[in-house]
Amino acid sequence: MMTTTIRPDGAPGVEQLVLPGQTAAPAGPVDPAGMYLMHHAFRRDLALFTAATAATPAGDRACWKRLQRRWALFSGVLHKHHHGEDTGLWPLLLARTAGGEDAAVLHAMTAEHEHIDPLLQACGDGFSALAAGAAGAADTRAALAGHVTELRDRLQAHLAHEERDAMALVQTYLTQHDWERLDKEHFSPDYSPREVPAVLAWVVYGLPPHAVRKIPGGPVLHALGRLLVRRFARAERRTFRYVAPAAAA
Ligand SMILES: [Fe+2]
Repeated sequence: MMTTTIRPDGAPGVEQLVLPGQTAAPAGPVDPAGMYLMHHAFRRDLALFTAATAATPAGDRACWKRLQRRWALFSGVLHKHHHGEDTGLWPLLLARTAGGEDAAVLHAMTAEHEHIDPLLQACGDGFSALAAGAAGAADTRAALAGHVTELRDRLQAHLAHEERDAMALVQTYLTQHDWERLDKEHFSPDYSPREVPAVLAWVVYGLPPHAVRKIPGGPVLHALGRLLVRRFARAERRTFRYVAPAAAA
């Protein structure tokens, strides 16, 4: 769904992308579709990994190896996303605000990222141990399920806070030109050309068809994404084979 929004000052804003699960899409002059596309994929993965850690038998090492590789994709993209925000987006916004409540929102964004990092590490360690067939697999799986659930809850709360309050600051203080410069300088450089196909398919998977056109990069990239996602979907069915289709849809 896309919404044409009206800015708080009454001027029409650009069309804002609103995806399933998204908490807010504040009105304004910036089109932050790339941000909302990433958040959609993070939310989808949180549901998938929560269901998979609960349902995958502790002894199915082949499946845990696939889950470990898939976790590395998710956590790698999340790390880059937060890194771009911490080194580019929040500092630029902080420089434009006059302190007060606006600055408090931005400090909260950084603090929430810091609380998420150790949980990501703990989950990664759990997937590695189960993939390696370490002793005590049942206990490891139970601990991992707890960590993944905690991560899901914290990250979902963080994404909601960011969409509601930090993206409102984006629309108040930044221009579309600022946004595109941030992407060029702080987000895109984190990805090597070799990583692009997997990340593109990861973004497209489960995305409403109209939203594929909002992926930054143009029609050739969109066509490539639609092509790559078929193979990605086949791999997903193997990786999340114990997850009920509703959670994996
Ligand atoms: Fe974000």
